[in-house]
Amino acid sequence: MTASAEKFTRQTLLHVQPLTPSLFTLRTTRDVGFRFVAGQFVRLGVTKADGSVVWRAYSLVSSPHDEFLEFFSIVVPGGEFTSELSRLREGDELLVERQATGYLTLNRFVDGRDLWMLSTGTGVAPFLSILQDFEVWEKFERIILVYSAREGRELAYRELIDGLADRDYLAEYAGKLQFIATVTREEVPGALHGRITQLIESGALEEAAGVNLTPEHSRVMICGNPQMIDDTRQMLKQRDMQLSLTRRPGAVAVENYW
Ligand SMILES: Cc1cc2nc3c(=O)[nH]c(=O)nc-3n(C[C@H](O)[C@H](O)[C@H](O)COP(=O)(O)OP(=O)(O)OC[C@H]3O[C@@H](n4cnc5c(N)ncnc54)[C@H](O)[C@@H]3O)c2cc1C
Ligand SMILES: NC(=O)c1ccc[n+]([C@@H]2O[C@H](COP(=O)([O-])OP(=O)(O)OC[C@H]3O[C@@H](n4cnc5c(N)ncnc54)[C@H](OP(=O)(O)O)[C@@H]3O)[C@@H](O)[C@H]2O)c1
Repeated sequence: MTASAEKFTRQTLLHVQPLTPSLFTLRTTRDVGFRFVAGQFVRLGVTKADGSVVWRAYSLVSSPHDEFLEFFSIVVPGGEFTSELSRLREGDELLVERQATGYLTLNRFVDGRDLWMLSTGTGVAPFLSILQDFEVWEKFERIILVYSAREGRELAYRELIDGLADRDYLAEYAGKLQFIATVTREEVPGALHGRITQLIESGALEEAAGVNLTPEHSRVMICGNPQMIDDTRQMLKQRDMQLSLTRRPGAVAVENYW
């Protein structure tokens, strides 16, 4: 992927936080002209030793009203982009395309009572941005964030999620959010055990949420592992829940990460 010089800005890394050997978060400065809608992604560029630039799409974790940009990244062993990105430190430069994009945004849904946000791994990122913005709390009666990881230590942003209720501007809505973590490769207290797809099939997810997935009331955003997204979409289709398109509003919106 290439981008001409005028299509991106140069931002400075303010903070890099390793979480596990394969996960880290990074915070950068934000260009005053950079605009995005919560749930969107932007292409980031890193300059390699030979001077060439590698670009990859990244969801924004930070909210549209934050003065900084935040991202949550995997380290893919031998990955062209993440091998470079994970070497960067505070003060280093990161290229950020001027134009954010993506349709995992609340305007995909014209109605609905309950918003389900289903994520695997770093796919939780856009939901963190949406949850830090005001709109979702006004638009839906219930918000169910489901976050699946292989191991308990890979469940990131627990403090941010738990702290949402303490934010002044969200205090009156705090009771609307239900957070359901599920860990697949070990048993973790306080988390479900099993893939999102298995938990939907068995009914365990709806039981944990205390509400059913229905075409009338549920709107479902899904992000992360493409196979999980395909499998979940098939299950929702059987329940008469279809992808939401501009010409045909529906109940499902997705973002594949690879
Ligand atoms: C719209 C969009 C938004 C994205 N947002 C994010 C984000 O917020 N955070 C993030 O870490 N990545 C995100 N990605 C993935 C990201 O663009 C890169 O694929 C990732 O940085 C790896 O780049 P790479 O060159 O090291 O490996 P690549 O050559 O790009 O990928 C190699 C393989 O690694 C695996 N892989 C890639 N990304 C992930 C991932 N996130 N989690 C688990 N396995 C993965 C897949 O098996 C993939 O085939 C997003 C992708 C898209 C399309
Ligand atoms: N996470 C690690 O420990 C680790 C370490 C080194 C490298 N990596 C690399 O990182 C990538 C994987 O990262 P990741 O663990 O964040 O992503 P991931 O493999 O997509 O797993 C994240 C969560 O999604 C679940 N999942 C995967 N496929 C699914 C499907 N079809 N349906 C429903 N749920 C599904 C996983 O369950 P399951 O556990 O059942 O698959 C896990 O709970 C790989 O490229 C890997 O080589 C990971």
